[in-house]
Amino acid sequence: MIPRSWLYVPADDAPRLAKAAGRGADALIVDLEDGVAPSAKDGARANLRDFLADAPPSTWVRVTSDPAGLEFDLASCLQHNLAGIVLAKTEDPDQVATVAQRLTELPGALRGLMPLIETGRAVFTVADLAGVAGVTQLQVGEADLRADLGVTFGSEESELLLVRQRVVIVSSALNLLPPVAPVSVEFRDLDVFRASTEALARMGYVGRACIHPAQIDIAHEVFTPTAEEIDAARRLIAAADAAAAEGRGAFTDDSGRMVDEAVVRQARRILARGATSG
Ligand code: COA
Ligand code: MG
Repeated sequence: MIPRSWLYVPADDAPRLAKAAGRGADALIVDLEDGVAPSAKDGARANLRDFLADAPPSTWVRVTSDPAGLEFDLASCLQHNLAGIVLAKTEDPDQVATVAQRLTELPGALRGLMPLIETGRAVFTVADLAGVAGVTQLQVGEADLRADLGVTFGSEESELLLVRQRVVIVSSALNLLPPVAPVSVEFRDLDVFRASTEALARMGYVGRACIHPAQIDIAHEVFTPTAEEIDAARRLIAAADAAAAEGRGAFTDDSGRMVDEAVVRQARRILARGATSG
């Protein structure tokens, strides 16, 4: 299953962490980086160790890329139940490779590794980070990116469109899983959150990082194909099969639009997402 929602939970609040698995997100990202104050890092790492001993299956951990903290973060999360690591603010392919190597030393199934693209340099060199063996997918981090670049968002959030697209394109080109869409700090005005999430879905994102439980249901609604979409995709594929049997590659659908193999591929994608969501 490809997660539609990834709930960030700071590791410093043990009771909140304990309840996090029940919030309904497809995956958790327990945070040791900017969601935790410097003075609370040691306690957060201790909480994380306890939590991971009995963690739900899709529990990822976000670690710092700052060399002063990375080893401590890794020491607290390289455990059996870890699903994967989100490497914050990373800009160095060698560092990504080192973390990838550490993950392969863990017993059991392969773990995920998700560099967080959240600096100007990371955007510029994103293919080098994405191409490191062991990287499974990317995530866009826009709060740091806005601060790094001096960007402020208008209502359409179009100021970082190029970044959002670049990460989708690089992920596809390098055969990674689709990237995880950026966090939105908006968790009270959920219409704003929904519109922003729908725009990301149209761009090829299939899941989004969330910072509050209120965002989870909306992410699930937006990233799950509707019954009508699945039905239309099925009808289109059946029509294409019938056309192919008659030796025709291109034909017109019920509404008079052209269909060919490219359109059918998109329909197959919808069916695949429908089969794996939730
Ligand atoms: N994960 C799990 N539970 C969360 C949560 C989260 N990210 N955010 C809120 N909750 C819980 C609260 O603990 C509270 O639970 P309760 O009703 O059982 O007591 C409930 O959801 C409602 O929370 P609410 O009062 O609306 O929010 P808040 O004011 O406590 O917290 C934030 C607001 C933004 C501080 C909080 O959502 C948060 O810390 N988010 C994550 C931040 C983070 O990880 N940043 C780094 C990644 S970008
Ligand atoms: Mg950040």
